[in-house]
Amino acid sequence: MAPTELEAGAPIYGPSEITEETFKETPEEYQDLVRWVVGRQLLEELSAACIFAKAAPLFYREGPEKVRYCVHLAEEEVGHCRAVARILPGIGLDYSLFAHHDRPYAQDFHGDPEFPQSWEDVLVFNWLAEESGRLFLWSMRDTSYAPYANVNRAIIAEEERHAEGGPTHLIRHIEENGDEARKKVQERVDEWFPKAIRLLGVPRSEKQQRFHHYGLKAEDTEEQLPLWLDAVLPYADQLGLTVPTSDDMRATGLVLPSHVDW
Ligand SMILES: [Fe+2]
Ligand SMILES: [Fe+2]
Repeated sequence: MAPTELEAGAPIYGPSEITEETFKETPEEYQDLVRWVVGRQLLEELSAACIFAKAAPLFYREGPEKVRYCVHLAEEEVGHCRAVARILPGIGLDYSLFAHHDRPYAQDFHGDPEFPQSWEDVLVFNWLAEESGRLFLWSMRDTSYAPYANVNRAIIAEEERHAEGGPTHLIRHIEENGDEARKKVQERVDEWFPKAIRLLGVPRSEKQQRFHHYGLKAEDTEEQLPLWLDAVLPYADQLGLTVPTSDDMRATGLVLPSHVDW
């Protein structure tokens, strides 16, 4: 796909160029985009915290190990919420955004009040969705709004560990519990594989182009999806799991970058 004129141009702001002081002098569109993306991230951090906090009591009867794992992840996600929340006043937001934010993207997390119900739910979310989260943070590490870049750099190491924890524990889980466990994991993967790709965003969308224009986001979904697949597919192989093909995904109406097939 040929880049548009807008995409071909260099971003108008460099990494961390905009401070809390100069934010107020930026175009209204820039301010809106920063508010949108910070609000989105806050809701996703909160979603993750809720998912792990809800999961912990499921495993009380199984001893402390799984409970501890979930509580630890919940604590770190709450820490991410706090870190993001600290920059809200500087961009003219407060917690009322929880009541008003337009959040169709969060439906995949919140749309199912029964989630999570099992260890497989926790680990597959931990693997596929957190890999999307990790790549999102990576694309925002040098974002043009300095306070937000600082937040993302501070939490990225923890997100990297989260995304690693999923497959590491899945390998052990399947080794210990065999085909019955693999079958349950496969069901979760069938559901979460497309959801996690959707979390990366629509490639070359108008919004992504505006993010590029203002130096807010380094990589588009076009660049991110191959990285996501490189991280995920080797583990799927190792675990003996199947994943939907790019043709299967396109058949469901999902927009994928034209050159990416697997
Ligand atoms: Fe997080
Ligand atoms: Fe996380």
